[in-house]
Amino acid sequence: MEFSKRTHHCAALTVGDENKKVILCGWVDSVRDHGGVLFVDLRDRYGRTQIVFNPEAGKEITESAEKLRSEFVICIEGEVKKRSQETINSKLKTGEIEVFAKDLEVLSTCEPLPFPLEDNLDVSENLRLKYRFLDLRRASFQKNFIFRHKVVRSVRNYLDTEGFLEIETPYLTKSTPEGARDYLVPSRVHNGKFYALPQSPQLFKQILMISGYERYFQVVRCFRDEDLRADRQPEHTQIDMELSFVDEDVIHDVIERMIQKIFKDCLDVDITIPFQRINYEEAMNLYGSDKPDLRIPEVIHNLSGISKDVSFNVFKKVLSIEEGVIYGLCGSGLAESASIKDMNDLTAFAISFGAKGLAWIRIMNDGSFKSPIVKFFDEATLKKYQEELQAKCGDVMFFVADIKKVARNVLGALRLKLAKDKGTLQYNDYKLLWVNKFPLLEWSEDEKRYSAVHHPFTMPDIKNIDELINDPASVTAKAYDLVLNGTELGGGSIRIHDTKLQEEMFKILGMDIESARIKFGFLLDALKFGAPPHGGIAIGLDRLIMLLLGLGSIRETIAFPKTQKATCLMTESPSDVSEKQLKELGICIEEE
Ligand code: AMO
Ligand code: AMP
Repeated sequence: MEFSKRTHHCAALTVGDENKKVILCGWVDSVRDHGGVLFVDLRDRYGRTQIVFNPEAGKEITESAEKLRSEFVICIEGEVKKRSQETINSKLKTGEIEVFAKDLEVLSTCEPLPFPLEDNLDVSENLRLKYRFLDLRRASFQKNFIFRHKVVRSVRNYLDTEGFLEIETPYLTKSTPEGARDYLVPSRVHNGKFYALPQSPQLFKQILMISGYERYFQVVRCFRDEDLRADRQPEHTQIDMELSFVDEDVIHDVIERMIQKIFKDCLDVDITIPFQRINYEEAMNLYGSDKPDLRIPEVIHNLSGISKDVSFNVFKKVLSIEEGVIYGLCGSGLAESASIKDMNDLTAFAISFGAKGLAWIRIMNDGSFKSPIVKFFDEATLKKYQEELQAKCGDVMFFVADIKKVARNVLGALRLKLAKDKGTLQYNDYKLLWVNKFPLLEWSEDEKRYSAVHHPFTMPDIKNIDELINDPASVTAKAYDLVLNGTELGGGSIRIHDTKLQEEMFKILGMDIESARIKFGFLLDALKFGAPPHGGIAIGLDRLIMLLLGLGSIRETIAFPKTQKATCLMTESPSDVSEKQLKELGICIEEE
């Protein structure tokens, strides 16, 4: 028997194969001893098949079968038999048959496992990351990676039919300004000089447009040294694209049809296009977030008008200051169930997001209003609040009095918290939308200068350059984000293709032409040699997989991810390097 002569994989055999002689290979998933007869679940990438070691097969094979342990790698030759009616396992693809082994070869043994390989067990993630090769054997992980493969295949097929060319761009490059820190790679040939790993191929894809390639894409790794979270890794993968002679509508359309196809191909879910579009300012006003979760029906309301004559001092004081507002949110179904402690906890939550307090009024089931502050409002005003917030009997009305920025931020966070606490959000209730017209610039109080919200090559939404020069703060950008269930899935923009406008942008960003030239002289040069109007977008592939499958972290979508501290516990990187290597690079390490 030779393992290379394997006849079937472990999910292939059915009753139609009865009496066939087969050779199967795989891992021992489990061994059960039923009074001398051994049952082994043999597992490979495809599934499981039950193997029976019957003493009648002979002494030699029985003795070696008795030594089998979990995760041994074996090859068996045997005969397919139909299972009796009462032993059929309807959960298993091969559940109607079993294979009676006639020959067994142990290809590899396995030491006792550091943790069981079943799903849903409470094993520390660090231990699992150290033994990632074992953890990846779990069925749930295999499902994730098979799904990821399908998504990428669907994307490549789609973009090919849409006329996109997949072109690779360098990993050893010059730093590109995306807002995170760069990972640097020292040069041996040029001591003291460094490459940067790309935070994205942003400038290269723009150059490709200037070179006439028109429609570029790449499934590409991007490297960012930033604070890590459940949806952030030091290296992540983008579906990155750039197109020439397009506006935002063309890019939205290309992406909408791509997302629609991914859902159909990989989940068999029909997604309606076009997606909802909303401007940044409107998103902030309604949802207190630039990545709104549309699964939550409640939105933020401006109650300043209704509140102008109330006697509640907190509201009166805030309304008397410039930019002071009263914003409200309905907490549905909480009036009768939430305790005073719950309300205090919600107040503490609001304060942790910068509020000075959180006012609340319960609307009891009988329609009466209850709150320590209810005495400061007349019945008509309370009714107006109720109407504006679309609150029903049994709901709580929440209020934040503050400047607009704080009020919407706090209620945006409260909106998410109330929904999460309720636990009714379903990952597969997929709600997609575009957030458009982001601000072009944001003011940094520390550096006393503007920085680009997206990046410095983003096209301002202006009719002429004077609008930018005269009032930069009020200019919006031709930039957009794609949002799915409260997570930013992708972002992009129309780019500046005019040297003069680009130079003006650098000026506004407080960057003189000399330092702009040092950083991205090649782009400025290229813009002078016939640059077409162009724009693009990048979708975070890891996040997309995480959201489509409802996973808790992008670490579950990446075969070899890093920890929150950017380490790889399996390879133990980052690691020390030899003195010789450092010397060659001209690097000397300072003791901390
Ligand atoms: P942006 O920086 O918005 O745009 O990134 C695009 C998308 O990539 C994903 N993403 C990440 N995923 C995991 N870990 C990270 N650290 C991480 N950072 C970003 C997000 C995000 O929406 N060059 C521009 C695109 C363009 O303008 O065309 C860019 O990189 O899902
Ligand atoms: P106080 O008058 O400070 O005792 O506050 C009375 C109630 O109003 C408390 O429930 C506070 O949490 C709430 N409150 C205080 N400041 C604000 C504010 N800026 N916005 C909303 N509610 C507030």
